Amino acid sequence: MAILPIYLDGTEPLRKKAKPVKELDLNTIALIKDMFDTMHAADGIGLAANQVGVLKRIIVVDISGLEETKDIKPFALINPEVIKESGKCAMEEGCLSIPSVRAEVVRPERITVKYRDTNFKEQQLIAEGILARVILHEIDHLNGVLFTDYVPKSKLKEYKDTLEKIKSGEIETRYPVVTNQKVVL
Ligand code: NI
Repeated sequence: MAILPIYLDGTEPLRKKAKPVKELDLNTIALIKDMFDTMHAADGIGLAANQVGVLKRIIVVDISGLEETKDIKPFALINPEVIKESGKCAMEEGCLSIPSVRAEVVRPERITVKYRDTNFKEQQLIAEGILARVILHEIDHLNGVLFTDYVPKSKLKEYKDTLEKIKSGEIETRYPVVTNQKVVL
């Protein structure tokens, strides 16, 4: 079990586009396991590889802690791609890379996503509600996009101090992090 430090807003990997995974080697399998450990240690419901400083198109999701989705087992999506989307809905989001900041974001309500599972087998999933939300948020990470990119500046003003603390490495978190100033383990 390895808990990796999570890269915070202001660090480079969060703004880079991750590359497709071509084959499932031992390093990638170990990375996926570490991503689950890291997400669980931070009480997150989703995590993208960029957030642990690795530019591979891999995300992990675990929404089994929420009552309405307790039957959905934790799973990893390799090379996820949205192939269909419909509807729109607003939902409040947060992000382990932007601690203490929460804001409403409008995204598609229902999506069809194509991905490879941990056997590198191609899969398709129709998702809605919180599951669609988490997947869309994490796929954004793989493209260097953060949820705050969608939030109006007027709203982000409320979080000015927090956002500055994150970028200056002064934010306190319950989990190990990398800021653009220092590594806090
Ligand atoms: Ni996030």
